[in-house]
Amino acid sequence: MKNKNILVLGANGKTGSRVIERLQKIDEAVIRIGSRNAAQPFDWENPATWYAVLHEIDSVYITFQPDLAVPAAAEIIQQFATLATNLGVQKMVLLSGRGEKEAQLCEEIIKNTAKNWTIVRASWFNQNFSESFFLEPILAGFVALPRAEALEPFTDANDITDVVVECLLHDHNNQTYELTGPKLLTFPEAVAEIAKATHKEIQFQAVTLEEYKQMLREYQIPEDHIWLVNYLFEQVLDGRNSQITNDIEKVLGRKPTDFETYAKETAKTGIWNAINV
Ligand SMILES: NC(=O)c1ccc[n+]([C@@H]2O[C@H](COP(=O)([O-])OP(=O)(O)OC[C@H]3O[C@@H](n4cnc5c(N)ncnc54)[C@H](OP(=O)(O)O)[C@@H]3O)[C@@H](O)[C@H]2O)c1
Repeated sequence: MKNKNILVLGANGKTGSRVIERLQKIDEAVIRIGSRNAAQPFDWENPATWYAVLHEIDSVYITFQPDLAVPAAAEIIQQFATLATNLGVQKMVLLSGRGEKEAQLCEEIIKNTAKNWTIVRASWFNQNFSESFFLEPILAGFVALPRAEALEPFTDANDITDVVVECLLHDHNNQTYELTGPKLLTFPEAVAEIAKATHKEIQFQAVTLEEYKQMLREYQIPEDHIWLVNYLFEQVLDGRNSQITNDIEKVLGRKPTDFETYAKETAKTGIWNAINV
């Protein structure tokens, strides 16, 4: 196997943890965990940690924190990619956001710096409702969000993972894939699917972006996180991403997972059992 030493950044995250799980089934793959809590820690905010983690690595799966859209991202990505290439890394697979101008700048940096690259641009993950920022409101049985009318082709993290693993193990060099689920859904429709799958009542309330930001301030969410939320709702959900692609099927030879299946399968895990309790 070519490029068998693989570094997975965000190893405990939504896609990184799944990528590791899949790679562990490939005998020849030698996986290195990219985490602030690993024996050899990796921290985006501390470049002094990068060198040792990149030592003797052939391929890297890059998931950046908190988001490629934040102002500091381009500089950090440039610094990281340059070091990785200088240390002999042969391939970089970058998880990027769909329709994010700033993220595309980071994509260009990877394209210009990596020996071989694949860009995996994803739409909003289904798992944001079960493993991330929408879990808490779902469990409260009350979701208030702006852009209630926006149509988003929510993508399943398992499909993203399968594409990433395929790109790490095989030749998808110089390709940019745009991953979407099979259907456009609004936030109220997505929440209704979860209510149906869990047989629980979950209310949805449409709010303005200003009202939403005010709510986040009342919950004492840090201002830099509110900046990011504002960016995502204002820029990414303005309709620019309201189209479906067939890139998941192109890469994997199978259809992407639909939101209804995700909701049914996730309900079985018990993560939403506490709704309305
Ligand atoms: N969610 C979406 O809908 C969506 C859509 C498109 C693109 N994206 C992009 O996906 C990327 C995130 O990927 P993901 O969702 O798979 O990961 P994730 O679930 O957001 O990953 C969280 C992990 O990141 C690690 N982390 C946090 N701060 C870190 C730091 N300073 N240095 C190193 N690691 C740090 C933490 O692990 P440790 O505590 O173990 O260090 C944490 O477990 C972001 O760049 C985002 O823009 C997300």
